[in-house]
Amino acid sequence: MASTVRKMLVTYALPYANGPLHLGHMTGLIQADIWARFQKMQGHDCLFVCGADSHGTPIMIQAEKSGVTPEALTETIRTGHKEDLAGFQIGVDNYHTTHSPENKALCESIFLAHQKAGNILQKSIHQAYDPEKNMFLPDRLIRGICPRCSAEDQYGDGCEVCGAIYSPLDLKNPRSTLSGATPTQKESVHYFFKLTAFAEFLKKWTHEKGHLQAEVTHKLDEWFEAGLKEWDISRDAPYFGFLIPRETQKYFYCWLDAPIGYMASCKNFCDQHPEYSFDFYWKKDSTAELYHFIGKDIIYFHALFWPAVLAGAGYRTPTTIFTHGFLTINGQKMSKSRGTFILAKTFREHIRPEYLRYYLATRLASRIEDIDINFGDFEQRIHSDLVGKFVNIASRSAKFIHANFGGKLADSLSEPELFKSLATAGQPVSQKMDALEFSDAIRDIMALADQVNQYIDSQKPWVVIRDPERQQEAHGICSMGIQLFRQLMVYLKPILPDIAKNAEIFLNCEPLCWADSQKPLPGGHSISEFKPLAERIPKEQISMLKVKDGE
Ligand code: MSP
Ligand code: ZN
Repeated sequence: MASTVRKMLVTYALPYANGPLHLGHMTGLIQADIWARFQKMQGHDCLFVCGADSHGTPIMIQAEKSGVTPEALTETIRTGHKEDLAGFQIGVDNYHTTHSPENKALCESIFLAHQKAGNILQKSIHQAYDPEKNMFLPDRLIRGICPRCSAEDQYGDGCEVCGAIYSPLDLKNPRSTLSGATPTQKESVHYFFKLTAFAEFLKKWTHEKGHLQAEVTHKLDEWFEAGLKEWDISRDAPYFGFLIPRETQKYFYCWLDAPIGYMASCKNFCDQHPEYSFDFYWKKDSTAELYHFIGKDIIYFHALFWPAVLAGAGYRTPTTIFTHGFLTINGQKMSKSRGTFILAKTFREHIRPEYLRYYLATRLASRIEDIDINFGDFEQRIHSDLVGKFVNIASRSAKFIHANFGGKLADSLSEPELFKSLATAGQPVSQKMDALEFSDAIRDIMALADQVNQYIDSQKPWVVIRDPERQQEAHGICSMGIQLFRQLMVYLKPILPDIAKNAEIFLNCEPLCWADSQKPLPGGHSISEFKPLAERIPKEQISMLKVKDGE
């Protein structure tokens, strides 16, 4: 047990409710989940919340196209997300939605607090407008000819051919992708969040130790240098979101209410679990720790806007924001045409999700590098590490314990020093897990597994067992195998929760926590029948995966 129980709240970025989860989403979710499970195993009180990001124009338009309400669309998609989360053993305590009464109330009160503090201003701006659809057009819904290189069919916010960044007003021959009409200009009053008022606070916050990875702090310095701007937090009707107080045609921009969705998901959980208190987590000067896991594309929203929104409304700020890189497959961006745009559901229908957890963990570190899945390497890692090294220890030992020793372990450890060395090795492993250096942690754990296999190989229990005089010795060796396997299982449990559950049944023990690696199972302990904990992946399963989403 940890000497002091820390109260921790972990979140993962809320996936948009306009589509199913894919392996890119899973990468970050798995990272956050492994970390949260690791903290729980240390005895800490770690709450993990997430939810669907349900608001915004794309969702509204998609619902319209499918002939359903945005509420119905987002609920159907959220249900699918939850199935994927369960399938990959992402142990979120709550998967809420930003379109919730809790979020509405929090958004309004946070907005009003900022308004009262003078952090909100209103000003009139000109924007592109679709005269046929009668709505303002977000940049992405306008296409036209690039003003710089004249490439055809470019988005309103930038050219994918020459990389120019511009305003949709600069596009030549612009048209609305909704109606095909030429956009007009229309004026409207918008609400702005005075980010500039938080410049000093943010410079200090982003440089305080522990809040951000160094690479992120550097990125933010560039943004500070370029100068902070006021942030447009309103959108005109029609929009799927929350109405701004005292307005009838203006909504909060979805990126204002999305991070508030973390609070809403927590609130929804606390309301159902009276032993947890929302205020305890979110009040100013809270002693709870708040960790946000996000991908590198949404740093701006989390590291600049979000701390300012929280602090200015009288709430606590995050303890740490952990940013991860993007997933690539066989070295390239996921792509529908290459058949590497893999949905979480497709993956889990073909391959045991735990294998993805393990493989990604071997690739994950604390730096914001992109993370590559190479299917050849994937197969090889699962077969050599999990099946060949780790599970093999249990299977080769269990066989004799059951056949020759009535399923009971020896009365004492025959190699206490070896047990102790694996116990001591738990300390650096736990430091690496805590520091999000999963790849390094796994390297250590697999080196320990090698050591255990070498021990068994050198002792040759399959030879010793044949000698009636040496039964006790054979019992000792095989019992050591089980005890050492259990220690390795402890270290791998945050990564492999399902295998751990089956191992606990096999070991006939309580759910393993980290401290269990320090003390052996008692002498004479009975173990249960051994069922294979991990098996080789049939070749065709991996190849099926690659073709499946190619359509
Ligand atoms: N809804 C916003 C987040 C709001 S948080 C208050 C959003 N949604 S998203 O669905 O586009 O992305 C959700 C998370 O998945 C983000 O952390 C994003 O970085 C991550 N990823 C989406 N595609 C990814 C990859 N291809 N690779 C790794 N992570 C990726 O942004
Ligand atoms: Zn261009």
